[in-house]
Order: sequence, then structure tokens, then C-alpha cells
Amino acid sequence: MKEKLKEIKEQAEKEIKSLEDSEKLKEIQVKYLGKKGEITGVLRSMGKLSPEERPVIGKLANQVKEEISQLIEERKAFLKEREREGELNRERIDVTLPGTRPPVSRAHPLTLVMEEIEEIFLGMGFTIADGPEIETDYYNFEALNIPREHPARDMQDSFYITEEILLRTHTSPVQIRTMEKVAPEVPLRIIAPGKVFRRDDDATHSPMFHQVEGFAVDQDISMGDLKGTLLLFARQIFGESLEIRLRPSFFPFTEPSAEVDISCVICGGGGCRVCGQSGWLEVLGAGMIHPRVLEVSGYDPNKVTGYAFGMGVERIAMLKYNIDDLRLFFTNDLRMLKQF
Ligand code: DAH
Repeated sequence: MKEKLKEIKEQAEKEIKSLEDSEKLKEIQVKYLGKKGEITGVLRSMGKLSPEERPVIGKLANQVKEEISQLIEERKAFLKEREREGELNRERIDVTLPGTRPPVSRAHPLTLVMEEIEEIFLGMGFTIADGPEIETDYYNFEALNIPREHPARDMQDSFYITEEILLRTHTSPVQIRTMEKVAPEVPLRIIAPGKVFRRDDDATHSPMFHQVEGFAVDQDISMGDLKGTLLLFARQIFGESLEIRLRPSFFPFTEPSAEVDISCVICGGGGCRVCGQSGWLEVLGAGMIHPRVLEVSGYDPNKVTGYAFGMGVERIAMLKYNIDDLRLFFTNDLRMLKQF
């Protein structure tokens, strides 16, 4: 029996030391130390032994049992340590690798154009004014000489919140709000950039878009001042070779009123698809501020005059960057936005 125990121990030692999988250790444990294991087998057959031999063999069997379970523990610890080392090696971080760069934001093309427009007018002595996007019927229409049943309202169908309150359809109400505040002070040179809203939606119209309003009030302001200012502006934003022309038009809040064209930025005036072969592009509305508009805002139309103009920022940006669909500004396609 001594021999048998020695054999078991040697066999177990060999098996345990060559074991690579810590899962298999459990099987070994059962095989040698379990209730039906090899050592138990020896202990069971001890009845055959003489009373003198029994304690000797019993002691030896327990010793072997002890040794085997120690070997198992050691192997378990060894395998665990090796696993951990492997893990550490696998997860090693190379701090010299370049990091992942977070995407960098940039200004939207409309913001760029708006800022450029502001810069140009600031350079000419204008100040920036602001007005609410949710506007009253009075400021959006009434005070601008567009009474309730006036057909001019049809051109600017809007989003109404109540009968009296709507999303502003243009930046012109800022004229009234500003003049009301500072009248009868002159000179007044203001631009008012911002969002406006209309019930329109196609390749050249969006229900929300941007305008820049401009106006000046002083003694003896004339249409010549208006034209000179706009020519300077157009040349700074589109290029020095540009020409402008004024065509008679109608706006209830200006008299006389004009539609302002610039020579086509694509063909230079020769005629192309973009300008419809005319050589000219319509970019803004303008005129001399109507005496009634001056009056409701607190100015005496017998003492001062003023000009006003309003332009669509999307239109300017489309011409400047050669963009043919206005909706591209609002669909947030990074392929488009990354170009600016
Ligand atoms: N408010 C006009 C529009 O949105 C544009 C405009 C035309 C503004 C003539 C003006 C102006 O200040 O004088 O259609």
C-alpha cells in the first residue's frame, strides 16, 4: 500500500505540473481527492491491513492527500498569475500612438456670410441692432404701412401664434423698434441681421431664412447715398469689378422703392444660366423710408429723410459660394459644411 500511495503521488504530481488549463484542475482534484477518488480508494481498503500497519498507512495517506492538494493550489496560483500577465501584455497601451482626434467644429457658411456683411457695414459706421423673432402684427406689418387688408401681405404669408402675434416675416420691424427708441436723434445708421419666417419651402425658399436689414436716417439723406452705400457693399463682398443697378419696384414702407441687382457674379455680366442670360442678379430690396413710417416712429418727415434696404443672406451665400440648392444650408450634411 505504501507503494500504491507513492505511485498515486508521483502520478498526480506529473499530471498537475503539466496542466495548462486551470479549469482542468477541478477534474484532477476530484480524481485524486474526491469521494470516489484514488486516495479514498486506498483508505477504504485499509480494513485489510493489520492493526499495526493501519495508523502508518492512514498517516501516509493523509500526508499524500495534503501534498496533492497543496500541489493543486500551487498550480492554480501559478496558472492564475500567468493568465494575468498575459492579460496585461495584451492590454498594453502604446502611449506613443497618435490619439483619436475629436471632430473640430467650424462656423456655418451662413454665419460666415452674416459676419462678413456685418464687418463691411461696421466699417462704414453702421451699428448692429436686434429685434424679436416673435413679433406683433403692429411692428411686422401695420407700422410698416401694410394695413390688414393690404394685398402686400399676401407676399409674406407667415406662421401666426395668435391674430396679433406671428413669427416675423422680415427684419424690417427692427426699423420701427430702433427708430422709436432713439427718435428724433440723427444720424442713425443701423443694420439688423436675423432669422425670418415664411410659409415657403422649395429649392430657393426655406420656411426659416436670414435677412440683413439696413437703414440710415439723417438730414438730406438721398437715394444717391443709398446707391453709393450698396455699391461699396456689393464690391466688398463680391469683388471690385462689380456693378449694381436699381430698378423701380414697390414696397409699402419705402417711396420710391427699388429692386437692386448686381452684375452676374458667375458670368461677369455677359449672360449665363444663373442670371437667366440677363447679366444681372437681383439681390435686395431698397428704397427711401416712407414718410408715414418715419412719422409713426417719431421722426418728422419734413426735417429728416432715410433710406432702407433688406437682403436675404442665403441668396448672398448661394451666389458667393456657388450653391444651387438653398436646402443644403439646413440639412447638416458634413460633406458640404466641411468645405467652409
Ligand atoms: N422687407 C422686405 C422683404 O422682406 C425687404 C426690403 C425691401 C427691406 C425694401 C427694406 C426695403 O428695408 O427698403 O421682402
